Amino acid sequence: MQIHPTIAGLRAALAANPTARVAFVPTMGNLHDGHISLMRQAREHADIVVASIFVNRLQFGPNEDFDKYPRTFQNDCARLTQAGVDHLFAPDEKEMYPEPQRYHVEPNPAHTDILDGAARPGHFRGMATVVLKLFNIVQPQVALFGKKDYQQLMIITNMVREFALPIEIIRGETSRADDGLALSSRNGYLTPEQRAEAPRLQRQLKWIRERINAGEHDFLRLETEAVAELAAHGWQPDYISIRRRSDLHPPKDAADGPLVVLGAAKLGATRLIDNLEI
Ligand code: PAF
Repeated sequence: MQIHPTIAGLRAALAANPTARVAFVPTMGNLHDGHISLMRQAREHADIVVASIFVNRLQFGPNEDFDKYPRTFQNDCARLTQAGVDHLFAPDEKEMYPEPQRYHVEPNPAHTDILDGAARPGHFRGMATVVLKLFNIVQPQVALFGKKDYQQLMIITNMVREFALPIEIIRGETSRADDGLALSSRNGYLTPEQRAEAPRLQRQLKWIRERINAGEHDFLRLETEAVAELAAHGWQPDYISIRRRSDLHPPKDAADGPLVVLGAAKLGATRLIDNLEI
């Protein structure tokens, strides 16, 4: 695997193979099996697989974990090499933001002011800005993102469509631990006790999916009960919400689907998110 700290270096390497189809998997590092599964899927769609590692300051709020976000570069490189990635773009902040970023992607507020965006003001603006910039740098034909960050994926899909970017977005299924916990770089923050408790979030989402599939239509009751169950076990729930998959707004009724149930809650200082399509 070739490692490129600069935009010019990556572009020169890709220019050596101008007709190759390029698949791109952007990450913030601290890679887990979910990322690696996206890298392997990427190989099925392209001749060349490019990954990036960049912890993007723009998408972190002032009181969020930018400084303590785990940086595990050597380990990540070993995993990417093993997964058969061809090129890693790993810029520092000066390379990505040589001057303060004053132009931003402003996603549709109807997509950013809800769910995670309501809890993390500015997060999706910073995320969309860096993703557009990374797309311009790598110029892939295909890009892969995990469904665990469902709202992120919806915003990226809309950005690609509205800006007519010639990139196919591929959605990877959420990778889970044996006990159902969605893999996340932030799981490493959990104490052993919190780690044992953490799969409850996914169990609550599953319970809602089962109830809906069994014909229950009182969504508010399901959401309220799931929130109460989490709170009773020491969580600080942010939301548990049944939404339309298309725009993540509340469905008018049970037929207004397809649906997805999403959840976000804090265990101690760690905020976990998950979702299940219904
Ligand atoms: O999902 C992530 O890891 C990040 O939001 C992304 C897409 C790499 C942009 O920084």
